[in-house]
Amino acid sequence: TLKKMDLANNQHQVAENSLVVTNPPYGERLDERIQALQVFGELGDWLKRCAIGAKAAYLAIDKDMGRATGIRSDKFYHMFNGQLSIELCCSKVIPENFSQSAYTQSVTELSTGGRELSNRLAKNDRKLKSWLKKEGIECYRLYDADLPEYNVAIDRYGRYFHVQEYAAPRTIPPQTARKRLDEVVLVIRERYQVSVEEICIKRRRKQKNEDQYQKQELLSAVDVEPFTVYESGLRFEVDLGKYVDTGLFLDSRPMRRLVAQHAAKKSLLNLFAYTGTASVYAAAAGAASTTTVDMSNTYIAWAERNMKANGFTGSNHHFIQQDCIQWLMDNTLKYDVIFLDPPTFSNSKSMETHWDVQEDHGIFIEKLMESLDQDGLMIFSNNLRKFKLDEELAEIFDVENISDKTFDPDFQRNRHIHHCFLIRHKKVVG
Ligand SMILES: C[S@@+](CC[C@H](N)C(=O)[O-])C[C@H]1O[C@@H](n2cnc3c(N)ncnc32)[C@H](O)[C@@H]1O
Repeated sequence: TLKKMDLANNQHQVAENSLVVTNPPYGERLDERIQALQVFGELGDWLKRCAIGAKAAYLAIDKDMGRATGIRSDKFYHMFNGQLSIELCCSKVIPENFSQSAYTQSVTELSTGGRELSNRLAKNDRKLKSWLKKEGIECYRLYDADLPEYNVAIDRYGRYFHVQEYAAPRTIPPQTARKRLDEVVLVIRERYQVSVEEICIKRRRKQKNEDQYQKQELLSAVDVEPFTVYESGLRFEVDLGKYVDTGLFLDSRPMRRLVAQHAAKKSLLNLFAYTGTASVYAAAAGAASTTTVDMSNTYIAWAERNMKANGFTGSNHHFIQQDCIQWLMDNTLKYDVIFLDPPTFSNSKSMETHWDVQEDHGIFIEKLMESLDQDGLMIFSNNLRKFKLDEELAEIFDVENISDKTFDPDFQRNRHIHHCFLIRHKKVVG
């Protein structure tokens, strides 16, 4: 008989001593890997449910993929499907062979390392609990490579988990790194009782030849629609699946609060504004006007949605899709508060030049100060770990490095993630 059905709902019983042969998707591309692992997990669940005593043979891209079934194989045959190197994994489906897998429903025992990670998450949960409650925060960093073997950052966005894997040093074999990442998923699943669909995994990589610039790649394409999260009673749209960044930079929360503290009845200019979260904070604090500038159509539209979601739609809220460098050349207006949070590096076809925060901030800020009211305040932050402020700026303006005061309890472990400066015009004496 032939039947079409979903593996997860398959109740078809297989007789003892049968042979189950299958060729599931390989997931050879990294972004397909997690989905393929899930299929192997479902296959394992079905075999354990319906095929006890049978033999199973499945083709997989590597042994780790085969292990995602949670059934130990007694034989692997290495072979090629065209150019593609694959493994035929052969198992006997008996309880003695059932093993640990992050991708099966039947979660089994954690390894010693996994237990340590789980304990650390519990400790961090306890440490952050009262602060999160008091501040009404549902998006935060839960774990930041606290244990060297589990070299990931784990952020929470409501019920979702956003896992960013820091690239492993070359001394760690890729299989070991993969196994540890699987364990992270397993620990999160077990401790928080969530499914793999609620865990989004991304990898951070250093770009070739430009080792200070970090790039990320999406490892698991979670099928999550954009959703709303709350911070300080305000609504923000986040998207965990589609982009490398989520729409809300968690480490810059203190800078958003700072903008709000100074924005009442003032005009705010928000440059390199991304999804406009600082503009939302300013508007909520009673800013007289906000001007949100970003080069990207996607992000300007997103910023507008964030403002609208919080009820800020009036004609005193301006959205400008333009290269900030170009915009500054033409600007003649003055602002009371300027929030400047540029990327470390940016290059795009629509830009005539490229932006390098270390090289370009001095001249840019000097020019931008012409757009700041005589009594105004500029809040300048960036995410270059080894950033050094141009010394000339401190000679021309009043500059205060307040980086030390801009780390919330969830970023105490990573106090190099950003720098923050307050910049004002020097007071004329006499
Ligand atoms: C907010 S910054 C990055 C924030 C954070 N400091 C970081 O480094 O990850 C990124 C934003 O700058 C925008 N951007 C990059 N170059 C730009 C330019 N020349 N003019 C305007 N916006 C730009 C991008 O579209 C993006 O929304």
